[in-house]
Amino acid sequence: MQVRLNRYLSMCGVTSRRKADDLIKQGRVKVNGEVVRSLGVRIDPDTDRVEVDGKEVKPPKKRYVILNKPSGYLTQLGTSPDGRRTIQELIKDIPERVYPVGRLDYNTEGLLLLTNDGELANRVLHPRYKLPKVYVALVKGVVPKNKLRKMRAGIELEDAFAKPDDVKILRYEGPRTWIQITFHEGRKHIVKRFLARFGHPVVKLIRVAIGPIRLGDLPKGKWRDLTGREIGRLFKAVGLKYSPQEVKG
Ligand code: URA
Repeated sequence: MQVRLNRYLSMCGVTSRRKADDLIKQGRVKVNGEVVRSLGVRIDPDTDRVEVDGKEVKPPKKRYVILNKPSGYLTQLGTSPDGRRTIQELIKDIPERVYPVGRLDYNTEGLLLLTNDGELANRVLHPRYKLPKVYVALVKGVVPKNKLRKMRAGIELEDAFAKPDDVKILRYEGPRTWIQITFHEGRKHIVKRFLARFGHPVVKLIRVAIGPIRLGDLPKGKWRDLTGREIGRLFKAVGLKYSPQEVKG
């Protein structure tokens, strides 16, 4: 796929697109050994060699990380103006700038995927690719088994209809119930709103899987790189082809 040269330079972290145009005008950029001064030039990152001041530039390697987000952290990079903790402090030792794929609420725990691969992130989130996100929720009340059928049929929420891909009771804990519920869409507070509409407000919410990726026994607050196998499965699940040489490892 071809991209404009200024965009490629910004993708590679050389500079902003606008400043990349200045570098091009100054004759500091070569494509396949030739100085390029025209601003509209497009290049193919897979086959063209781009240099700035005689040094080859390449896009950063792709990185795919999962974090076990604890409750009490905002899903955002950088700091929060209100002083609440953010996941930034948990991933500060990752040198690549990886972005969270979707959000977990401040008090939701569990599996958060982070990557610098925008295409993969879009597909993980887009309902069209139907990638299931599996949650375990502790809810108020004893959920009777016969309510599951109604839940499976879906319900109208304030913004739109919501229908889980699956819902089941895991166990009862006194006056509360542990439920496993799966949605392939990531609308804001969807699990909490959905279960509250059935009269069972969520007390605790944990995301345990995103498609083929499982949280497993990753300790709370810790991150790890996905294995090559996991990346391959995730790509397949959203209809992408995986090329291991682009991945940091
Ligand atoms: N649904 C919610 O209600 N909260 C989350 O954090 C994720 C899904």
